[in-house]
Amino acid sequence: MKSLKNIKMLRGINKICGPRSFFMEPYVSSFQLSSHYSSAKPAANAQNLPRLPVPKLSDTLNKYLKTVKPHLKDEEFAITSRLIQSFGAEGGVGQKLQALLEKRAQEHLNWLEEWWLLTAYLGYRDPVVVYSSPGLVFPFRKFNTQNEQLKYAAKTLLAALEYKSLIDSDKIPTEMMGKNPLDMLQYKKIFGTCRIPGDKTDKLSFNDSKYVTVIHNNHIFHVDLWGADNVVLSEDQIVQQLKQVIELSKTPTDNAIGVLTSENRDAWAKAYQLLTKDQVNRESLADIEKSIVVLCLDSAVGLWDNKDKNARQNIAAAQTIHGGGSRSNGSNRWFDKTVQFIVGADGVTGLTYEHSPAEGQPIAVLTDFIINYIDQGKEGKSVSASPKPPVPLKFNVTNEVSALIRTANESLDRLVSNLELNCFTYDKYGKNFIKSQKLSPDSYLQMAMQYAFYRLHKTPGAHYESAATRMYIGGRTETIRSCSIESVEFAKTMLDSQSTPKQKFAALQKAIQGHKDYTVQALQGFGVDRHLLGLKLIAKENGIDIPELYSDAGFVRSAHMRISTSQVACKCDGFMCYGPLVPDGYATCYNPRDNDINFATSAFVSNPETACDKYRAALEQSLQDMHDILLQNTKAKL
Ligand code: COA
Repeated sequence: MKSLKNIKMLRGINKICGPRSFFMEPYVSSFQLSSHYSSAKPAANAQNLPRLPVPKLSDTLNKYLKTVKPHLKDEEFAITSRLIQSFGAEGGVGQKLQALLEKRAQEHLNWLEEWWLLTAYLGYRDPVVVYSSPGLVFPFRKFNTQNEQLKYAAKTLLAALEYKSLIDSDKIPTEMMGKNPLDMLQYKKIFGTCRIPGDKTDKLSFNDSKYVTVIHNNHIFHVDLWGADNVVLSEDQIVQQLKQVIELSKTPTDNAIGVLTSENRDAWAKAYQLLTKDQVNRESLADIEKSIVVLCLDSAVGLWDNKDKNARQNIAAAQTIHGGGSRSNGSNRWFDKTVQFIVGADGVTGLTYEHSPAEGQPIAVLTDFIINYIDQGKEGKSVSASPKPPVPLKFNVTNEVSALIRTANESLDRLVSNLELNCFTYDKYGKNFIKSQKLSPDSYLQMAMQYAFYRLHKTPGAHYESAATRMYIGGRTETIRSCSIESVEFAKTMLDSQSTPKQKFAALQKAIQGHKDYTVQALQGFGVDRHLLGLKLIAKENGIDIPELYSDAGFVRSAHMRISTSQVACKCDGFMCYGPLVPDGYATCYNPRDNDINFATSAFVSNPETACDKYRAALEQSLQDMHDILLQNTKAKL
């Protein structure tokens, strides 16, 4: 049984692409889930992709034992080993659960997909802000006038429309992993989608429409992108629409309904129920739900007062993750919308995305598409003869809802002041150097983070990296457990003043190879985390006691992901950022480019052990040390 202390520790952890589901109690059956879709998205296997396999039980258990070793003393490891042995024994509970899981896999196109959506996202009750929704920062712009801001916003919307039409007509080229095509369904879920708060479980609403929601000074508008003649507006026409929005919302409203979406999901669900008692509110909420995307026209945040790029990156990251709180742009949001573009008055541009329908990669591809569209000076192709004016969305706000808005402001401000960010571009080298050393860039960077954590905290850090399982129908992610026996040995060797360069080089090679091997397996669905989650959920579904394995120190510590990482690669000089998984952890999202790497790290201010600036310094030092070891090795060979 989970101790109260553990439960408290696990509250407030983030679940980006994530493992939080291990800990989650709320769970409803797949029947309930399907009824939550307000309009079904294609579920058929049009690409004829393979099904997510259920790994062999013995393979997972052997692999799992290796991953828990760095976190256990010898006597603890002996206990975990015994537990695993009895769990996996002939006729044991593990085999029983495995058979049930295999049966489920025969009955579902993807045995995990619905469970994952529910346990990792829709059933999770912490706010989506910080705990779930990443921000994506676009390359900086400098807007000298309001017109420049609005032109940029109009171009962003037109680029998004063009991208959407490519998705709708199946013209996005199928992504490949080696020879394997990847599931492209996530692309179909990013536009027109909205999360709707519910009692215990949220739902997703998928829609197709011809307008966007624009928010300015916390006022919310319906803005049609097609005229009455059914022709798409030109860039200038969209700018005119946005000017009207600004004219109609010159001062911020106290009835900032949007801030409610930043609340704990139960609190927001309660407020939502109150709001929907009123017909006017129901119509406004439905309008936001059905729009293609949200566009947030934000106030200036002093971006260019900072000469330092890192400082600007931190400001922009904060704006895209949480909007800077209720006194900045935090209420100028609708966090339930899958895509919210942010175009700030002085040049913060990017997006916030609600994570449940898709992983980061389709969003990163969308980002590159938008940036290319804008940089190439593209414009819309049509001019409507009859644009429709923007419509302010009205809300009747009772005293009760007003009080909830005030509470939501306070909750958001607490979240904001508890999140520390340190974003930077590491410009000494990028992927090209690592490849030139015949090493996998991703595995190399993961080992740099392992080394940095060990250097700083003198203890192995359980480390989560997401690997895409999109080679399977409905695939999302598997966890790469980057903390390994080899990664710890590497960090120790590097820090040992007695180690020779040759030993350090050998330890580096071994750690990278170990990570690469795990990655290859995770990409094929053969990690340990999703399988163990499946066995736990099938036990619950069948009323079988949760095996002791799940409360054992090996499980708890190896799943307490103190380093939560994800590679989200885009070609432009942008980056994704999000909050940590555990109270004493870091999150690092990174974008490795040919000659530099964007890193975005966050931690909780309230935790005395973590500090982003120290982590960053340790990471930079690790990258430098690894570089030097490689060069020394090359020289030694000459
Ligand atoms: N020598 C030389 N080059 C090598 C190499 C080696 N030993 N190993 C790899 N490379 C090359 C690769 O061929 C690749 O080349 P490319 O840039 O021409 O394509 C490049 O280095 C990058 O490969 P690598 O760093 O090994 O891995 P990756 O970029 O494929 O990333 C994952 C690995 C796990 C991050 C990726 O597969 C993945 O799953 N990404 C999605 C993660 C996700 O879901 N994120 C979102 C969560 S919200």
